[in-house]
Amino acid sequence: MSSIDYEALAAEARQMFESAADEHELESARVAWIGRKGRITLLLRQIPDLPADERPIAGGTLNALKGELAACLEERLRNLSADESETGADFDITHPGRTPFIGRLHPLTTTLNEIIDVFREMGFDVAEGPEVESEYYNFEALNIPEHHPARGMWDTFWTESPPGMVLRTHTSPVQIRTMEHQEPPVRIIVPGRCYRSDTPDSTHSPVFHQVEGLYVDEGVSMAMLRGALDTFAHRLFGEEVPTRFRPSYFPFTEPSAELDIGCFQCSGKGCRLCKGTGWIEILGAGMVNPDLYGFVGYDPEKVTGYAFGMGVERIAMLRYGIDDIRLFYENDLRFLEQF
Ligand code: FA5
Repeated sequence: MSSIDYEALAAEARQMFESAADEHELESARVAWIGRKGRITLLLRQIPDLPADERPIAGGTLNALKGELAACLEERLRNLSADESETGADFDITHPGRTPFIGRLHPLTTTLNEIIDVFREMGFDVAEGPEVESEYYNFEALNIPEHHPARGMWDTFWTESPPGMVLRTHTSPVQIRTMEHQEPPVRIIVPGRCYRSDTPDSTHSPVFHQVEGLYVDEGVSMAMLRGALDTFAHRLFGEEVPTRFRPSYFPFTEPSAELDIGCFQCSGKGCRLCKGTGWIEILGAGMVNPDLYGFVGYDPEKVTGYAFGMGVERIAMLRYGIDDIRLFYENDLRFLEQF
C-alpha cells in the first residue's frame, strides 16, 4: 500500500467527481470512491495491515481525501440542481398546462348592467345613496309619515345605535337626496341593495337589489314614462312582448301604476308562471307626487316628474327562468356556471 501514489489517486477521484454531468454520474462516482465498496473505503480498511509507521500517514491522507471528495460531491450536487433550474431542465415544456379558472359575472350583476345600459342610453345618470338610511329619507320625505299604514308595506330592520336608522327598504330615498342637491332637470337611475324583514321564500329575500328611476323637469308626462318603460321592457324581454299599465298605489307617486308584461311562457293564455292571468308584474311606477317637491324645494307648479322602481332579482328570474330567488345567494358553482 505504501506504493500507492496518493497524488495520482486524488487527482483521478477529483476528476471523476468534477466531470460528472448529472446526478446519476455523480452517484456512480460516489459509489466507486467512497461507497461501502469504494476504492478509498477499501484502502482505509486495509490500513491495519500496514507497517505501524505507515499507518498514520495512510490514515491521515486517505481520510482527508475522503472528506474532500464528500465535500466535492455536495458542491457538485448543489451546482447541478442550480444549473437545472436555470436552464429549465426540470421543466417539461411538453407537459399540458393547467387550465386557469376563469370566473364570470354573477347573473344579478349581468342583469343589473343590462338595466343600467338601457337607461344610460336614454340619458339617465347613475346615482347612489347609503344603505343605512334615516327614517326621514326612507319614509317621511317620501310621503310616508309615522303611523301611515303604508309603512307596513316596507317592514324593515332598525338600528339600535344610533337608534331610529333603517336599512333602506327601497332605493327611493336617493330620489330625495338627489333632488335636495340638484336643480331640475334630474334624470337618474339608482341601482342598489335593499333590506326588508321578509321571511325568505322562493320570491323573497331579506336582502335584495332594486333599480330606481327618476326624471323631473318641465313637461315630463306619463306618456314619457310609458315610452321609457316600454323601451326597457322590449330591450330586456324582446321587441314583441306586450306591456300594460295597471293602476296601483305608492305614497310617493300619484297616479301610480304597475308595469306588466305579457307572459312569455304561455303567450298570454294563462299558466303557472303568470298565475293564470297572462300577465307578469315587473315594476312599480308613477308620476312623482307633488308633495315630495315641498321636501326638496322644487316648485310643483313648474316641474313634473316620473319615477319607477324594480327588483333586480325579479327581472333576472324572469329573464333566465329561475324559479327560486335563493339560488342567487347560495354560491353553488353548478348554478352560477350556467350563466
Ligand atoms: C317599491 O319598493 C317602490 N319604492 C318602487 C317604486 C319606485 C314605485 C318609484 C314607484 C316609484 P315595491 O315594494 O313593490 O315598491 O318593491 C319593488 C320591487 O322590489 C318588487 O316588485 C320586487 O321585485 C322587489 N322586492 C321587494 N321586496 C323584495 C324581497 N323581499 N325580495 C326580493 N325582491 C323584493
